[in-house]
Amino acid sequence: MDSNQERYTVTAALPYANGPIHLGHLAGVYISADIFVRYLRLKGKDVLFVCGSDEHGIAITMRARKDGTTPQAIVDKYHEQIAGSFEKFGISFDVYSRTSSPTHHETASEFFTNLYEKNILEEQVSEQFYDATAKEFLADRYIKGTCPRCGFEEAYGDQCENCGSTLSPQELINPTSMLSGEAPVMKQTKHWYLPMGQYEDWLREWIVEGHKEDWKPNVVGQVKSWLDQGLRPRAMTRDLEWGVAVPLPEAEGKVLYVWFDAPIGYISATKDWAAVANKDWEPYWKDENTKLVHFIGKDNIVFHAIIFPIMLKAHGDFVLPDNVPANEFLNLEGRKLSTSRNWAVWLHEYLEELPDKEDVLRYVLTANSPETKDNDFSWKDYQTRNNSELVAILGNLVNRAVVLTHKYFDGKVPAANDLQPIDKQTLATMAEFPGRIEQSLDRYKFRDALSQLMDLARLGNKYLADTEPWKLIKQQPDRVEAVLNTALQITANLAILAEPFLPQTAQKIREMLHLDLTGWAQAGKPDLLEAGQPIEKATLLFEKIEDSLVEAQLNKLMENTPQEETQEEVVVAPAKDEITFDDFVKMDMRVGTITAAEKIKKSKKLLKLTIDTGLDVRTVLSGIALHFTAEEVVGQQVVLLANLAPRPMMGEVSQGMVLMAEDAEGNLRFVRPTEPVNNGAQIS
Ligand code: 2FM
Ligand code: ZN
Repeated sequence: MDSNQERYTVTAALPYANGPIHLGHLAGVYISADIFVRYLRLKGKDVLFVCGSDEHGIAITMRARKDGTTPQAIVDKYHEQIAGSFEKFGISFDVYSRTSSPTHHETASEFFTNLYEKNILEEQVSEQFYDATAKEFLADRYIKGTCPRCGFEEAYGDQCENCGSTLSPQELINPTSMLSGEAPVMKQTKHWYLPMGQYEDWLREWIVEGHKEDWKPNVVGQVKSWLDQGLRPRAMTRDLEWGVAVPLPEAEGKVLYVWFDAPIGYISATKDWAAVANKDWEPYWKDENTKLVHFIGKDNIVFHAIIFPIMLKAHGDFVLPDNVPANEFLNLEGRKLSTSRNWAVWLHEYLEELPDKEDVLRYVLTANSPETKDNDFSWKDYQTRNNSELVAILGNLVNRAVVLTHKYFDGKVPAANDLQPIDKQTLATMAEFPGRIEQSLDRYKFRDALSQLMDLARLGNKYLADTEPWKLIKQQPDRVEAVLNTALQITANLAILAEPFLPQTAQKIREMLHLDLTGWAQAGKPDLLEAGQPIEKATLLFEKIEDSLVEAQLNKLMENTPQEETQEEVVVAPAKDEITFDDFVKMDMRVGTITAAEKIKKSKKLLKLTIDTGLDVRTVLSGIALHFTAEEVVGQQVVLLANLAPRPMMGEVSQGMVLMAEDAEGNLRFVRPTEPVNNGAQIS
């Protein structure tokens, strides 16, 4: 390796091997990670992209119990399936390993022993729930009871899925064991704890202060909020049979906590890769010039930005993450994805039902990537993005440039003779794109980067529409040569820049143009194709998607989801009484921007908002504090019912009402224009 070459170890969250991969996984983690890695490789970086199956933990044992089989049988089945789907979809891992492998058991065991021998772990005896009939200590997920916060009777020992509260099993009212259905008893047990509190100051300085500019706000925000609440010691061992055995003689029947072993899986996977590739694994984890980047979903933030870094720091031999780009969640057709209710689009089914459409899915999921907030996937949007963007913009440009070259110049790249100002200007604009895309990718802004890429295709289409070579060919064939040369150079640039986002399409374009891919540095040049060089005939890059496909996929979703579940969820409020048009126009609804916000001290629900309405700046009290923090609403555009009579509330006067929509889960969303508009713009 060139000693100046930057080295990256990029990890993608290890999926649990207890079910197939769905679109939520792809949008949350794997597509962004793959784009990033492909981009780094094109830039000539030394990159290692690791992943594998997370095969321990309660999720696996629960699935095995449910299916009446063993945990090993479950992980064998799903590991195979997940690995196959990723490969077919084109996620370009260098290694896809698994945590049930001997390398992993050994690596995780050694890691634990290292911390144990340094006296970092604290031994504690505590009372935990035990099922005397099943003779097993109960993981939090195996205990059900009534939620102390909302009264929901089916809350789990770690979380209430009704109100979203994080719970501990001791808080549940009337707890019962899910193994025997009996009330559990308390029994003493010894475990080894990571003293997380000792690392608070260091974490605050390193992440909250040190990475507030370059890590995503959702990650820094979550870390800060955990730190503000104070970190408590967390047990790194569990009373379970399935997992990595705790390497201590006194710990029989105990295994490592799955969140202790799983991230070490990234290291084990690196060792597995190195053994096959005949490389040294250590620089990828120990050299201070290595940048470690963890791609994860938001539910994994605490583990990758707090617990694993504490483990790495305590161990001392390893580098710490350079970044932890975490995405929010993807919803499906306006509802939360749910594997148990089969409200999901499964990757292996997609690959079978829609062959050769991997790039369409990559495109749609990147364009809608839940980078800064939860986002939605819908089949209608999939169709629209395919037809109006991939077919009409990217496919159209490539097709026109290649078809016209065959029609007018016998399939040979024409010469760039006597370039006119419009050609030069277009090529100069084109040359700015690699830098712009790069800036977005370096900041983990994949949506922006993709949108830039499409802007380059738009530039090419506009150029052809402005120059109209089809009208000039008879009178000015020389001019058409220059125009098509320019259009083909833009197409060749797209074939390089599209590689991280749409690898199959990029390759098809390169094959059409006989263009070798040597690296990102090629991009921006106006002479990637030589005059006289032959090109292939145009092949279809994207085909139009018909309504029938959308209907079929929607029907499939509805059919596969238990009817009562969909009915229960789609709660639509009954229609209100008819009003006249005159009633409607009485309402002064207009767009405003929240310029400041603060919590009302004596109220759980109210935020005090300062809103610039275009007419004035006013105070509005809004019952959204359980859904949004004051910080996250500042800067947002909202729609305000501005002529609602002022109402005194909590010692303040609210001057209007912010319009909100509530989804089936009770989440609130702001109603607002799809693009920003000026404050004061009226709704009519
Ligand atoms: O949330 C999950 O799906 C976990 N299996 C992710 C593990 S990531 C890493 F730590 F292994
Ligand atoms: Zn609850």
